[in-house]
Amino acid sequence: MINIGLLGCGTVGSGVVKLLKKNEEIITKRTGDTIVIKKVLEKDRDKCFSLGIDERMIAQDISEILDDEEIDIIVELIGGIEPAFEFIVQAMQKGKSVVTANKDLIAIKGRELFEMAEENNVDFYFEASVAGGIPIIYPLKQSLAGNRIRKVIGILNGTTNYILTKMSREGRAFDEILAEAQKLGYAEADPSSDVNGLDAARKIAILSSIAFNTRVTLDNVYVEGITSIEPADIRYAQELGYVVKLLAIAKEDEEGRVQARVHPAFIPRTHPLAAVDDVFNAVFVQGDAVGEIMHYGRGAGQMPTASAVVGDIIDIARNIMYNVNGRIGCTCYESKPIVDIKQLSAQFYIRMTVKDRPGVLAGIAGVFGNNNVSIATVLQKTRGDMAELIMITHEVREQDLEDSLAVLRGMSIVGKINNVIRLEGTDRTEDYL
Ligand code: NAP
Ligand code: HSE
Repeated sequence: MINIGLLGCGTVGSGVVKLLKKNEEIITKRTGDTIVIKKVLEKDRDKCFSLGIDERMIAQDISEILDDEEIDIIVELIGGIEPAFEFIVQAMQKGKSVVTANKDLIAIKGRELFEMAEENNVDFYFEASVAGGIPIIYPLKQSLAGNRIRKVIGILNGTTNYILTKMSREGRAFDEILAEAQKLGYAEADPSSDVNGLDAARKIAILSSIAFNTRVTLDNVYVEGITSIEPADIRYAQELGYVVKLLAIAKEDEEGRVQARVHPAFIPRTHPLAAVDDVFNAVFVQGDAVGEIMHYGRGAGQMPTASAVVGDIIDIARNIMYNVNGRIGCTCYESKPIVDIKQLSAQFYIRMTVKDRPGVLAGIAGVFGNNNVSIATVLQKTRGDMAELIMITHEVREQDLEDSLAVLRGMSIVGKINNVIRLEGTDRTEDYL
């Protein structure tokens, strides 16, 4: 019998309890042993009772679980940094393997946790921490291990994808759609980490570390959220043949330099990621042998996330039965340079409000020209005595664009720079680095 100590019986924890019960027979056959939740740590005992968890299984405190020598695996689903980190460290020191869905923790304390697992000869699995139910950590570490990975592009936050999808389909207000995503259990306890891009940044930090075998932490990821996206941007994207998505992008160039960033992007309507709607997530991977592949599914929610957690539990249970551990441990054996976003170049969409009178367009074009920013497409919509200018640039350096916008913001003919959004698929690291 493999005994579990479950920390947290909230959305995901309850899903794990339900799934282990629902598919008990098949899980036992596949594992070759019975997996049993022996003890649960949860602040709100009513959540446990509603799942049929017996009062005697509810731990008074963490030590009751850590000191129980019969417990083999700790499943941490309380979330946050502390006390989750301390609980995991103590569990590993007591020789217990750990499964978690906690991306906040891994993105910040990953290195310490991997080292701790290795020192204590235990396993540390975290499939559910990125893209919920979609298997991506194991495929990157195992199934794709023969490839040199060049690119990982994900839609890694269900809440923002849900909001952008509803905004583009129904034209509804941002706050109303966010409240709906919270009610459906997709959003984080503090939804600002969804909408400001932080949640996706944590996930791409984890994926890029694995894909490129180098430690990428949250501080290395450039982050922009979706709060600046307005219905007008979505409309113009559609008019120009694009879709707006919050993308998490990680790439390694030929010189071994790594970039990791999260920001809204225009992607062509024909790109496979453009069809990923609602709360769905997808991870697009390019490997030198496999080519391009896309993993698609539910990136959040109770049962999809529980699916990934239970998969990890089964794998560790099998390791315990064969008396092995550390088969798939930390893969960050290199130390690669991280490229600053200012050193990249890309095509950009720019929406600005300007005075509608002769010479204005020429003045604006002049500023761009003086800063090496070349314009590919221009659309103009008149709004009274002002005009909305929509421009798509050719591939330009981030720094050159920033310099042009700084000049434009100071010009009396420019009312407002409403938004600037990158087009995906057009960036490259400058050779002068
Ligand atoms: P949740 O619904 O808030 O569940 C966490 C549970 O743990 C709550 O019942 C909470 O009780 C309890 N808890 C917190 N601290 C505790 C402590 N010190 N001692 C005992 N109980 C404690 O969160 P969740 O959505 O299940 O998320 C759990 C983890 O999975 C997080 O790391 C999250 O990022 C990750 N995750 C979630 C999803 C998803 O779709 N929800 C998807 C992927 C990954 P109180 O509510 O009373 O504080
Ligand atoms: N808040 C996250 C999302 C949940 O919306 O994708 C999964 O990590």
